[in-house]
Amino acid sequence: MTGACSHPELPNDLNSKINDLMSQMTLEEKIGQMNLYNGFWDITGPAPEEGDAANKYQHLSQGYVGAMLNIHGVENVRKLQEHAVNDSRLGIPMLFGYDVIHGYKTLAPIPLAEAASWDLEAIQQSARVAAIEASAVGINWTFAPMMDISRDARWGRVMEGGGEDPYLGSQISAARVKGFQGEDLSAVNTIAACAKHFAGYGFAEAGRDYNTVDIGTSTLYNVVLPPFKAAVDHGVQTVMNSFNILNGVPATGDAFLQREILKQRWGFDGFVVSDWSSTREMIAHGFARDNAHVAEIAANSGSDMDMESYAYVNHLKVLVNSGKVDIATIDDAVERILRVKFKLGLFEDPYKYCDPNREKELLYHEDHQKAVLDMAKMSMVLLKNETKLLPLSKFQQKIAVIGALADDKNSPLGSWRLGSDDNTAVSVLEGLKSHTDQVTFAKGADLVTDETTFRHEVPINETDKSGFGEAVRLAGKSDVVVMVLGEHGFQSGEGRSRTRLDLPGVQQELLEAVFEVNKNIILVLMNGRPLAIPWAAENIPTILESWHLGSQSGNAIAEVLFGAYNPSGKLPMTFPRSVGQVPIFYNHFSTGRPDATEMVFWSHYNDESNSPLYPFGHGLSYTTFDYSDLSVTVTGASEVIVKVTVTNSGQVAGEEVTQVYIRDLVASVVRPVKELKGFQKFSLDPDQSRTLEFKLTEKELGFYDNEGKFVVESGKFEILVGTSSVEGLSGEFEI
Ligand code: NOJ
Repeated sequence: MTGACSHPELPNDLNSKINDLMSQMTLEEKIGQMNLYNGFWDITGPAPEEGDAANKYQHLSQGYVGAMLNIHGVENVRKLQEHAVNDSRLGIPMLFGYDVIHGYKTLAPIPLAEAASWDLEAIQQSARVAAIEASAVGINWTFAPMMDISRDARWGRVMEGGGEDPYLGSQISAARVKGFQGEDLSAVNTIAACAKHFAGYGFAEAGRDYNTVDIGTSTLYNVVLPPFKAAVDHGVQTVMNSFNILNGVPATGDAFLQREILKQRWGFDGFVVSDWSSTREMIAHGFARDNAHVAEIAANSGSDMDMESYAYVNHLKVLVNSGKVDIATIDDAVERILRVKFKLGLFEDPYKYCDPNREKELLYHEDHQKAVLDMAKMSMVLLKNETKLLPLSKFQQKIAVIGALADDKNSPLGSWRLGSDDNTAVSVLEGLKSHTDQVTFAKGADLVTDETTFRHEVPINETDKSGFGEAVRLAGKSDVVVMVLGEHGFQSGEGRSRTRLDLPGVQQELLEAVFEVNKNIILVLMNGRPLAIPWAAENIPTILESWHLGSQSGNAIAEVLFGAYNPSGKLPMTFPRSVGQVPIFYNHFSTGRPDATEMVFWSHYNDESNSPLYPFGHGLSYTTFDYSDLSVTVTGASEVIVKVTVTNSGQVAGEEVTQVYIRDLVASVVRPVKELKGFQKFSLDPDQSRTLEFKLTEKELGFYDNEGKFVVESGKFEILVGTSSVEGLSGEFEI
């Protein structure tokens, strides 16, 4: 642990400013910096007089609050910042944190959808736009990006991450951190990012949110931790720990994770914030006796700031005085927190994010609408286009549009859109109508039966099929049917685990009823997680995965359906055939019995194949790409150059994402059957070819052993270079 104010790489004046301030602080004021409160009273009204709100308000003037969350809007933030700055003894400005996950007002696609673009620049830009809008309403700290690798689509929060792969996930984490924090953290339009949830949260048993996590060291080091390491390497300012226990220890109270790995091995110099009351939840986990014990464990294990558990503010002083928590521990945490505040420039101007003109000018700005439209187009994945129903012609066809989600301006906004306004997405119907007047709509059935909110269960329509008749009639007299089916926007996200991965409610029945009368169906899926839709995959000729695409959803979908944009997305998560296969992911290990035999004694299911419905990396285009001339040359002890030629063999220009997978055949700790180690996204005109080059170095060829040491071992590798994790040219090499 470092002592107070000794960070070697910071300019001396920053160190001395922190030192100077800390030398004036009382113990209570230091502990106050470690305290993060949620705000819930009417800020612009009179000061609260009783209860929790009054208590918090008083703590503000005493300098016992380091940061607040869920306060937004220039007027609100300014009011509370003035209270902290003018009324407290030392006037230390507060951080204002908020869940800016995929935008503030203007919403980009959900993060899982953005991951499907495999476009790191676009993803970075999307985070930039989110930071510009958030910083315009007083927010200077986002609780994003979430970088939990997730292999279990039952878990609702898969929507919030970068998918199942640590290589892609790490690059996306870095891109998002760069986007939020920009080049200069002290600029008025950049905000501190937060790498979350450290660690293992995505491995909740059975996909049930907040559930136990029990994983081996190989998975921890090679799968869970790399995106966090990438975020730290790219200067992320804060890290949030997580609700789960990891191998018997709550992450919030885990010194191995927070002190040894994050702060010592990786040299992270920002601060760790707990998740919402995850500190206090150590009591329910059976790890701490009471809230004082909670404070002792969390502080000693490196959790620097307490979100809404009241553990630090109420107990740390006594713990320090009784010697259970060392003052150096407090100093280290406070130094980290103050450093972020200094870097943001809050001491120069605590109100720098409180400019009403920026607020007025930037929210829903047309540049932001344009940016999220571009991102939305890139995020869609064409899963199937067997009979080439897509792209649609605008002129000759009568198009039936069916499904409640087609006319929904709320669901496309997805989950985690706290700052935005309900019903502000362009619906699919609106998008299609702006291209053609050949569109007729029939809902078929409601998806939900009542109002939906971020906080409550979504009431799904399981029974009412009274609209089926009208939809079937319309389909019968139309040339082509666009069916928009999937999940309500609030069916994924925090607290949104599902045991079924089918189309919710009566949608599957609606799909089959329409199919009876018209087989020319384009199924547009709108969902926040991979779905198990084996019947549709077998019977429906065309399937477009559109996820929850944000504010410009309908416009983006219409552009893809009419061919104004050629889809280029690739799945960042495997789609299962059945829930029983989950967790299913491409980079699994081989069993000792991988090959099919006549008898049952090999690793398989009796009632379902092992293979996914749609594999990781899969995604079609309106054109086709041919792969040729793979060459793999070992150019050094651990250096391999891979070349491949890709040709657009179809009729239209398109973008391809070429992916490189390796398999280390024999290793001291077994390696997955495939691991993504490189990708390039590029565009080709018809008949145009491009030769791509990939360099594999130690970084790509090595792995972490069970002690967390990165090793590169000599031996043979297989390689696959192609259009998905299952399709391409293969070769081998030896290092
Ligand atoms: C709980 C969530 O797990 C976390 O991701 C979020 O940032 C906090 N709540 C604050 O809203």
